[in-house]
Amino acid sequence: MTKTMKAWKHDEYGGVDTLKLVTDAAVPEITDDQVLVRVVAAALNPVDFKRRLGYFKATDSPLPIIPGYDVAGVVVKIGSQVKGLKEGDEVYGDVNEKALEGPKQFGTLAEYIAVEERLLALKPKNLDFVQAAALPLAIETAYEGLERAGFCEATSSTGKLELLKSLGVDLAIDYTKENFEELPDKYDVVYDAVGQVEKAVKVVNGSGCVVSITAAIPSQVLKLKITMKAWKYDEYGSVDVMKFVTDVAVPEINDDQVLVKVVAAALNPIDFKRRHGFLKASDSPFPIVPGFDIAGVVVKVGSQVKGLKEGDEVYGDVNATGASGPKQFGTLAEYTAVEERLLALKPKNLDFVQAAALPLAIETAYEGLERAGFCEGKSILVLNGAGGVGSFVIQLAKHVYGASKVAATSSTGKIELLKSLGVDVAIDYTKDNFEDLPDKYDVVYDAIADSVQPPHISFFLTSDGSILTKLSPYLESGKVKPLLDPKTPFPFDKVIEAYTYLESHRATGK
Ligand SMILES: NC(=O)c1ccc[n+]([C@@H]2O[C@H](COP(=O)([O-])OP(=O)(O)OC[C@H]3O[C@@H](n4cnc5c(N)ncnc54)[C@H](OP(=O)(O)O)[C@@H]3O)[C@@H](O)[C@H]2O)c1
Repeated sequence: MTKTMKAWKHDEYGGVDTLKLVTDAAVPEITDDQVLVRVVAAALNPVDFKRRLGYFKATDSPLPIIPGYDVAGVVVKIGSQVKGLKEGDEVYGDVNEKALEGPKQFGTLAEYIAVEERLLALKPKNLDFVQAAALPLAIETAYEGLERAGFCEATSSTGKLELLKSLGVDLAIDYTKENFEELPDKYDVVYDAVGQVEKAVKVVNGSGCVVSITAAIPSQVLKLKITMKAWKYDEYGSVDVMKFVTDVAVPEINDDQVLVKVVAAALNPIDFKRRHGFLKASDSPFPIVPGFDIAGVVVKVGSQVKGLKEGDEVYGDVNATGASGPKQFGTLAEYTAVEERLLALKPKNLDFVQAAALPLAIETAYEGLERAGFCEGKSILVLNGAGGVGSFVIQLAKHVYGASKVAATSSTGKIELLKSLGVDVAIDYTKDNFEDLPDKYDVVYDAIADSVQPPHISFFLTSDGSILTKLSPYLESGKVKPLLDPKTPFPFDKVIEAYTYLESHRATGK
């Protein structure tokens, strides 16, 4: 077999003039899981010219690039691990698993292409190679969107209306004459394949959704749900005011915010204090979707957001100042809108549940130590060392600040836990009164918070993602770990049980 082949390639990003037909491109080598396909037909998609214009420069493979995603052709060579294909098979597929993350340097606009077996399928016998090449990326995107959503009607320009009907649409709308968003009909699913999400949202019915193939992520399908499941309350009171609903609007984001798909949320004492009405004077209006702490995935970014992008795994406390105007739409929901500055990238070694257990408690622990001017060589007594905040005060004092001595209080059953967190002196408050013991400390960190008398430093946390980022090396190295109560995590439909347990004041860690 020849070692060189004809191909179209470009050595720089730019207009269509950058494409050159060459005859000396190297026939690609295959890896063990790949086959070499002799290209019979290749199809172009919008992603091809967007890529050539340099839209995906940051994640693209190096130049020179032979473009092209869709192919139909014949297998001429197979890798040692290939199980389901053999030489002579007629195949078709999109050769790039992820369109935007490192699409292949040597694509389909060539005589031969190396493709992973798993990206290919046998060509339907009734289709020729040209017809088959027209399918992969477009039909896979169409299918994935419908799968994620459920179900559509279509728009086109006048000349293509008959075509739409022949494809099976019941109502064909000529977008050059009518604005679909002004027509009376509403739909369960609007599949936006042009980038008109703002208008599409207007024709979705109550529980429906928009599936958008955005310009920025052409082959990824982003489902923007219009309504979502959430826990909310319309009055202050006991845990009974909490209601599980499915019709809360997905929050709109401001320019400095991102929309986060919540994977895990954690409760803190402030959540039940707020629900009881302790923050009434400064609270947001009803209905309230409560919750401060989350870990999740960014699904949309505001125009001013610089450091986060779609797909980032993040965590944080969504309320900059918990006591003054916490968000009306918090974290006990499928989606929440959060200012970029309140979030940090999730440490890779932690799962979402572990990450959600950190923000408010560890930031409070850190801010208290900072305000006390805590530093290496100082001693500290932590009251309530086994609680959400106290467990982090112990670990930060010992492993981050280099305390000379860490003492902490808890009931008998949690003394061993205190020791495992690094305390030098574990005090069982059911047996000893810490104030009667002979030792004195540079700092006493009261994480019971119901018993403080002057002189003391009293503060309310100002949440900030940069604290999490600062502590990231200690979290990633495992020096500081979230302490999860053995009863956790609670499933989303068991929020009442989670609140009830937290309000018992007996939870260990988070
Ligand atoms: N100012 C702020 O920004 C801020 C931020 C976060 C939290 N807070 C406040 O700080 C307090 C603690 O919050 P948290 O999340 O750490 O609480 P938590 O996790 O709910 O604390 C539960 C723990 O308290 C322990 N405990 C109860 N009575 C105790 C006592 N007399 N001595 C020692 N330990 C005792 C229990 O352990 P045993 O079973 O061993 O008793 C249990 O493990 C809350 O009042 C919260 O509202 C304030």
